[in-house]
Amino acid sequence: MGALQSKPRPPSLKRPMMPTPAKVMSCTDADIRLQSEPNPNGEATYLITPGSTTSEAINLACHQLTEVKVPIVIPTETVYGLAASALDGNAVSLIFSIKGRPADNPLIVHVSSRNMLESILPSSYTMSGPYQKLINEFWPGPLTLLFPVDSTKIPSIVTAGQSTVAVRMPSHPVARAIISLSGTPLAAPSANSSGKPSPTKMEHVWHDLGETGKVSLILDGGPCDVGVESTVVDGLQVDGKIRILRPGGVTVEDIERVVGDDLAEGEKAPQVLVHRRDYEDKVIEEQPTTPGMKYLHYSPSVPVILLLTPAVAPLPPATASLSLREVLSDALSPPQMQKKRPRLGIMLHSDSPFDPQVRALVEDVEFIDFSLGPLDSPSTTAQRIFDGLLTLEREGVEMILVEGIAEEREGLAVMNRLRKAASEVKWVNV
Ligand code: TXA
Ligand code: MG
Repeated sequence: MGALQSKPRPPSLKRPMMPTPAKVMSCTDADIRLQSEPNPNGEATYLITPGSTTSEAINLACHQLTEVKVPIVIPTETVYGLAASALDGNAVSLIFSIKGRPADNPLIVHVSSRNMLESILPSSYTMSGPYQKLINEFWPGPLTLLFPVDSTKIPSIVTAGQSTVAVRMPSHPVARAIISLSGTPLAAPSANSSGKPSPTKMEHVWHDLGETGKVSLILDGGPCDVGVESTVVDGLQVDGKIRILRPGGVTVEDIERVVGDDLAEGEKAPQVLVHRRDYEDKVIEEQPTTPGMKYLHYSPSVPVILLLTPAVAPLPPATASLSLREVLSDALSPPQMQKKRPRLGIMLHSDSPFDPQVRALVEDVEFIDFSLGPLDSPSTTAQRIFDGLLTLEREGVEMILVEGIAEEREGLAVMNRLRKAASEVKWVNV
């Protein structure tokens, strides 16, 4: 045999360039300490354990944000965020392209102090009493407030040209330290491809945006504590009412309590209204500014069926409730479920009325369970809900059945997400 000669490949056979997967760096909260307590303006100085991976990760994150000017993934207490400087329109445009996010869906700006908040608002702006109460009580934390925008400070790509800008101060030490040390407010949507459930673990981000190299850096802060996104509140309307545009990590009950506290003599507590529960607004429903209204949201790539009992939510008029056996046989009738031993993901509470009967009703189905915690702990359900959808999807199930909960406290945010994730809602009599 003659010597092998390397011939140039014809162009059509050239392998496409493989994307470089993201670098993942883990951060430990214990490595982040406040060197000084926040002053009255909420400024604090952070001391990160020198030489720790956390310090290396946070330094690289700040470098990527302020020098390279590209989005990176950071943990927050709600969900992981895809963050870029909110003052840099080019960097923010990369967020939209990485996520495949429609340009008319505005982003939340994350600040680390009240000084930073003031620095981005119109200089003439004076904060209302209810906003001051909400900020004192819930910041840092999962509460987003709408403010009037100063478009000379915040590029219009962040707000999608709206007259308001949504702002929150996250409580996660990694997020806070990065915003503070980089000295820049960060625009950050959830770190998922548009339309998918929000990521609450580094692994969720890795499978969606990391291994394909859509992002270059992911900071791993472990599982997110809250598990659903922040509550989005509009308290700017002239009628003085507080409107909840998206229920989230801060409950409506807590917001009502706080704005109703410490009223001056003769002062009335502002009314708190939840969009779609307490009011409809045709104008904003045509716009994408009410989260999850215009665009598909929170949907895994497999069908999700939401199971409700009349005990959890009132049966809508002219709706029949079915037995669990009927629900299961309907669920198993589509062609993809006809294959031998289909895999069915089930997300139930540990004290669910459906358990254990559900398993006894059908044969030749492989059940993959994901527990949502006890029915009377909606904060646990909230923490687990996106993880469950993403974990079961990853397990390769053909379909997911998920149990709803009462729309109280964090249950309101959970049901808001589940109604959007579900391709069908079934009422079950137990
Ligand atoms: O917890 C959270 O809020 C997470 C973490 C990363 O902070 N972020 C998050 O961002 O959930 P995103 O982009 O996935 O959802 C923000 C929602 C959007 O659906 C958008 O419609 C709404 O907030 N929003 C942003 N700016 C707004 C504005 N000016 N008026 C009304 N809604 C706004
Ligand atoms: Mg999102």
